[in-house]
Amino acid sequence: MLNRRRFLAWTATAAPLALQGNSLLSNNKPSLLEAKLAADSDDWDRIRSLFPLDRKTVFLNNGTMGVSPYPVLQASIDSLQDSATHARYPGHNDKLEKLLAETIGSDHDEVAITKNVSEGINHICWGIPLKKGDEIILTSHEHVGGCAAWLHRARLEGLSIKVVDLKPTADQTMEAIESAIGPRTRVIAVPHVPCTIGQVLPVQDICRLAKMKGIISVLDGAHPLGMLQFNLHEIGCDYYAGCLHKWALGPLGTGYLYIKKERLAETRCTHVAAYSLDTFNMNAQPPALGELVDSASRFSYGSFSGALIEGATAALEFYHTMGPARIEQRSLGLARILQEKLLALPVELEMLTPLEARSRGAQISFRLKDKSNVEFVQEARKQHIILRHVGENDIDCVRVSTHYYNNESDLEALLECLVAYAG
Ligand SMILES: Cc1ncc(COP(=O)(O)O)c(C=O)c1O
Repeated sequence: MLNRRRFLAWTATAAPLALQGNSLLSNNKPSLLEAKLAADSDDWDRIRSLFPLDRKTVFLNNGTMGVSPYPVLQASIDSLQDSATHARYPGHNDKLEKLLAETIGSDHDEVAITKNVSEGINHICWGIPLKKGDEIILTSHEHVGGCAAWLHRARLEGLSIKVVDLKPTADQTMEAIESAIGPRTRVIAVPHVPCTIGQVLPVQDICRLAKMKGIISVLDGAHPLGMLQFNLHEIGCDYYAGCLHKWALGPLGTGYLYIKKERLAETRCTHVAAYSLDTFNMNAQPPALGELVDSASRFSYGSFSGALIEGATAALEFYHTMGPARIEQRSLGLARILQEKLLALPVELEMLTPLEARSRGAQISFRLKDKSNVEFVQEARKQHIILRHVGENDIDCVRVSTHYYNNESDLEALLECLVAYAG
């Protein structure tokens, strides 16, 4: 298990540049000692100072994009600087894959680094052997990145799509999924946490059911990493596509793909290049291609940005320094407080995020009854409160994400703004 000692590793690597005053980061960043003390403390204001996010911004949209703390920026900048100064090509190393696998409860050779969730979902969707008439179960709460590949493949190849609604409790959602399964269902592809209302789906039960019925399970994991603790071997899914640039607070453009070991051989790998195979020879007759590497990393290929990989690695190290259990408790705790306060407001609203603790994560979505939701989000932005309007699938609601760097005064600012708009 990882622990805060990892912070020392960050301190050791970040220190030389920072001390030389060579860094491109602003001088406002905390000293290394201050950063370490803050991360180790339970003083959330002090922890907030580890983020360059400006003070006047109330950022409640981590579900779209995480804001990185200083150590993550520093790692990315160091990498760029190193590359530019020493003309160094960022060679492939598996440090991120290993740390990620340890974090998500998979084996090292079951993960590939991607640029985002959409890329991972595409690898999965186009990699699973399917034929005309096969049915895929999706939900009515998909993000375009979670469903577009399936809809596109269905259109091109005559697959059939069945859409399931989410229900207010985990048991009811399970019932809805179970009753949607038919004789031609080949894949259940659902979000672990949808972008719309932040509901935590009972993924372990869903994957167990799928396995029992011989159905492939695919999870869109855009949100959980960095918010919830989870273990993919315990969940039991066949495929999982996640990212490091939301709740894990890594740089934008960093994602991952998990393929259960037993599924690797049957998963068609359509995109290959450097790192995904061992050799090739254009002078052989006929030209020869070596074998694909014997791990999910065959799905990562070609040159990549060292700055993104180093930033994502630092983000996971920072996550472990802060403590996954502490982060989960804090971010979900803020969401629970927000939900309770919203329900007590003198404002006509419909709470869309489940009240059931098991189904609630760190995002709360609600719909104003007689006022425009999109205009409220715009109005809040004028006051530097950043929210997300969810327009997808005609859901039309306001989504609030609460991460550990938020605090109760952020929630108060939002509630005040809401009462002024709709009270
Ligand atoms: C549930 C869900 N799936 C997929 C995506 C797409 O993610 P990416 O932009 O990393 O491809 C998002 C992005 O917000 C999302 O919320």
